[in-house]
Amino acid sequence: MASARAAALVAAVMALMAGVALADEHNHRYQVSDTVTLWVNKVGPYNNPQQIYNYYLLPFCKPKPVDKPRHKWRGLGEVLQGNELIDSQLELKFRTALPKREICTMSLDDDKVEDFTEAVRRHYWYEFFADKLPIWGFVGPPPEQTQGDTNVYIYTHKSLDIAYNRDRIIHINLTSKSPQPLTSGASLTFTYQVQWKASSIPFVRRFERYLDFNFFEHQMRGCCCCLISNLESLFPAGSYVPVRSPPA
Ligand SMILES: *[C@@H]1O[C@H](CO)[C@@H](O)[C@H](O)[C@H]1NC(C)=O
Repeated sequence: MASARAAALVAAVMALMAGVALADEHNHRYQVSDTVTLWVNKVGPYNNPQQIYNYYLLPFCKPKPVDKPRHKWRGLGEVLQGNELIDSQLELKFRTALPKREICTMSLDDDKVEDFTEAVRRHYWYEFFADKLPIWGFVGPPPEQTQGDTNVYIYTHKSLDIAYNRDRIIHINLTSKSPQPLTSGASLTFTYQVQWKASSIPFVRRFERYLDFNFFEHQMRGCCCCLISNLESLFPAGSYVPVRSPPA
């Protein structure tokens, strides 16, 4: 399973580097405050890269129905693999910090609780794109981290840290925060924020970090160092420390 995922990742990186994935993020050059589209793509269990769904199959906040969401279709092969990009309609402007902003507030009914709980229990992660760069995050902290707690939690805040070099985007880090319990009848407010930071990494080298194993390890830390096809059996108990714990 781990090797299947590794192969999938390598294939994804190759596709990215070949530039076949997305057609028209124009020329990757932006002026300050130009719109950068944040696309949502897929979601699926971390240890089964074959099982993928569109992000909005989970009851996440959707773009306002009045604004017909923009789709970006990729080749047929991509679509069959579950890649279907939909404009999140979340404001993202080049080199413009965005303080914490609400995406939506939803009240959780039984169906939503069930769908999200299943996703968190099965370690679902999702993929967004901006300027052709993939952005990955987990739906919630893994239940292993909240042992002894009957609640399952969902992350409600996304913090994006974006590195730029002059008029180019170099990389994007997503940090998931504010885990909230999935309880029927509760009201959850989903939020996001954006910070920009200058980088000296040249644009032509921006994909190199995706080829670095440490990058994946870093992205997955706090969640999944022990999920890779039950690799935990290889680690002595307690040899890993969750980076973030949900509120007590
Ligand atoms: C993204 O994360 C990496 C690894 O922690 C870090 O070196 C880099 O500075 C971060 N970038 C931004 C824009 O915060």
